[in-house]
Amino acid sequence: MAIQISPSILSADFAHLADEAAAVADTADWLHVDVMDNHFVPNLTLGLPIVESLRKAASLPLDCHLMIEDPDRWAPAYAEAGAGSVTVHAEAARSPVRTLREIRRLGARAGLALNPATPVEPYADLLGELDMLLVMSVEPGFGGQRFLDVVLPKIRRARELIRSTDASVWLQVDGGVSAETIERCAEAGADVFVAGSAVYGAKDPAAAVEALRAQAAR
Ligand code: DX5
Ligand code: ZN
Repeated sequence: MAIQISPSILSADFAHLADEAAAVADTADWLHVDVMDNHFVPNLTLGLPIVESLRKAASLPLDCHLMIEDPDRWAPAYAEAGAGSVTVHAEAARSPVRTLREIRRLGARAGLALNPATPVEPYADLLGELDMLLVMSVEPGFGGQRFLDVVLPKIRRARELIRSTDASVWLQVDGGVSAETIERCAEAGADVFVAGSAVYGAKDPAAAVEALRAQAAR
């Protein structure tokens, strides 16, 4: 299980996104892009035009996390815009199987995200449709929130479910991931770690990524 780090540009300086992306290009695996529509979550961030521009300006593949209503309608456009991975929320998708298949057909990795209160068991049969399962460890909407330990048992169950199938599904954790919490997440079975404030709030974002990776591997 290779450990991957996906710094979230939500905590970066939006006026200098290309520079912020370049700052972690040598140490990170992905660039996590939080798309929020002010309906699914009470915050508004960025959409397709910025993803299209960032795709040209950044060398890391984009890991697009769609916190939006009607992801069935919008997710394919993110895959077409060149995102390496597109994740939709289980609570918002009306036709997740069709949408996940469409994302894959368009050449991106397909992800399904679960809010802290959404159980993983109902999605066990969908694992074969997924390249990544995202377990949210904060209520989505904002960076810099406190990690919710209450999701650790779900990360563990998700890892067991993934192990019990033949599917090779990455298990991502997002929200409050830091030097203090990443070990717990890794121990529970996560292998892809999103970190916003822990990376872009640090003096040296590249070094912060390395430190998180080392911490997760312990
Ligand atoms: C929150 C976003 C996260 C956010 C994480 O809704 O999905 O990706 O950027 O930020 P930190 O790591 O600061 O909790
Ligand atoms: Zn996110």
